[in-house]
Amino acid sequence: MRSHYCGLIRESHIGESVDLFGWVHRRRDHGGVIFLDVRDHQGIVQVVFDPDTEESFALADQVRNEFVLHIQGRVRERDPEAVNPRMPTGKIEVLGKTLSILNRAETPPFQLDEYSSAGEDVRLRYRYLDLRRPEMQEKLRTRSRVTHLVRGFLEEREFVDIETPILTKATPEGARDYLVPSRMHPGNFYALPQSPQLFKQLLMMSGFDRYYQIARCFRDEDLRADRQPEFTQIDIETSFMEESEIMALTEAMFRELFSTVIDVDLGELPIISYADAMAQYGSDKPDMRFGLPLVDVGDLMQGVEFKVFSGPANDPQGRVAALRLGGGDRLTRKNIDDYTTFVSIYGARGLAYIRVNDVGGGRAGLQSPILKFLPDEVIAEILKRVGAENNDIIFFGADRASVVNDALGALRCKLAEDLNLYERPWAACWVTDFPMFDADGEGGWSAIHHPFTAPVGDAESVLADPGGALSRAYDIVINGYEVGGGSVRIHDVDMQQAVFRVLKLSDNEAAMKFGFLLDALKYGAPPHGGIAIGLDRLVMLLTGATAIRDVIAFPKTQTATCLLTSAPSDVDPEQLHELGIAITKSESSK
Ligand code: AMO
Ligand code: AMP
Repeated sequence: MRSHYCGLIRESHIGESVDLFGWVHRRRDHGGVIFLDVRDHQGIVQVVFDPDTEESFALADQVRNEFVLHIQGRVRERDPEAVNPRMPTGKIEVLGKTLSILNRAETPPFQLDEYSSAGEDVRLRYRYLDLRRPEMQEKLRTRSRVTHLVRGFLEEREFVDIETPILTKATPEGARDYLVPSRMHPGNFYALPQSPQLFKQLLMMSGFDRYYQIARCFRDEDLRADRQPEFTQIDIETSFMEESEIMALTEAMFRELFSTVIDVDLGELPIISYADAMAQYGSDKPDMRFGLPLVDVGDLMQGVEFKVFSGPANDPQGRVAALRLGGGDRLTRKNIDDYTTFVSIYGARGLAYIRVNDVGGGRAGLQSPILKFLPDEVIAEILKRVGAENNDIIFFGADRASVVNDALGALRCKLAEDLNLYERPWAACWVTDFPMFDADGEGGWSAIHHPFTAPVGDAESVLADPGGALSRAYDIVINGYEVGGGSVRIHDVDMQQAVFRVLKLSDNEAAMKFGFLLDALKYGAPPHGGIAIGLDRLVMLLTGATAIRDVIAFPKTQTATCLLTSAPSDVDPEQLHELGIAITKSESSK
């Protein structure tokens, strides 16, 4: 029977006999003495076998990395010169008496030390080995801690944990659905939920008042480092609460999580409107750990001869903005070329700049390829508006507003990362006052959050001016990541129908897709609202991981495959036949 965990043996155990179970992390042969680093989920302890214990010494000689062992021995103090201050067990070692090999292991495809240089593909293919690494164990343990704390926080406040279906009908959250064919109803499909959105609203209509669920969501969309096709939400819905109350509750939960898990005080979260976020940071998920605001200069550029600037300056859809980098003289010509290439990813056709050598020196104090196109008074006003100082570099973006926002917004973050411009390690905020709809480019509208979010104002004003309508939505953003989003919902059937109408959903279609919701709204639906927090993103931030894959036990690759199980994969023709499905492979996929 196990007497101690390897990683928990300390000086207080010196002299005690111990029974340990674990894996060989490393084996070293030191002139007649064999050292085994033995690992379990609590950590690593050093076990020494000397030739006096003949039989176990012979066995210790045979073991290799990742063999599974049972060891009996006695804890002793290490010689002073052998003490390892970096290991929690570094002051002691176990003198091995008996050793049994419980299982052998082939040579692992990669070394399991804390930092594995193995490529991610190999780590994902052998995920069960990757997860043995203390670093990965720690991340998943933090994740478990977070869900435990969240449950405690919400249960204390009378939230009820209710499961909602996985085989269901489409829930629009802006991605494609994963479909599941029905054997009982050939030709018909379930959709996996993009979120529990409609069910949580129905639960409010059922009178539950406060719901939560740690819910799996499925979205078939292009993947990035902070997106997975299946991911987990801390999903919350409440009745009779206004946005300020839901935000305060969420904020309290975040503050508790950050202080308990990583001892960080998040402070009061500032609220910034969508319009301000776009104007100052070019993004609706602004990273507020540093300044570098975008400054509008379009009004100064309307009359200049430089068409690259005057064009967007005179276009209502255009934007000309400046970004002042203090100490920009540290950027070389090559750096600027690289940043120009970087912004081109976001569609920018160039990256104009002015170097400020001597801010009081007129044109002679400046250096720039665009100076010749700009009159003195415009130059003077730019310098004043951005607050220019000696040794600054001022970048410019001029294009459609969306291109300038994306390009300068990303440049801002890239500069902060490259030059380490962070003023604080954590910056969280709320973004509010989102527009309700986004023009889809074909004369129609799409919902920015989802079509169940309540607009500000009444149905007539929404129908009259969809582009001007704001929504009662809010996002929580931490260090430039959208960690959660929610809204007050529509609880009035006429408003819901008006929103469907703006989205060009005919009454027939609306009845087919969401008839159950429209019906439910007619039977005394309470005012309600909620939020969903991306658990994977939250844990990624709390653990300092750079991708959400690192905080998910068995994640998918960027191309939505599972390298461990080889999903998705072919299925038996018999299964397809039962489902009434025939595959027509296109030439390219043959
Ligand atoms: P939304 O679509 O904003 O809202 O999702 C809420 C949060 O879920 C996380 N998230 C993701 N995480 C990983 N991979 C993905 N593919 C992914 N997509 C979203 C984000 C995001 O902020 N039903 C609404 C919530 C509501 O209105 O209450 C919803 O799903 O952190
Ligand atoms: P050009 O006259 O095309 O050589 O451009 C002069 C400067 O303006 C160069 O530094 C370009 O990188 C920059 N530039 C060109 N187009 C844009 C744009 N749309 N936004 C910002 N800068 C631009």
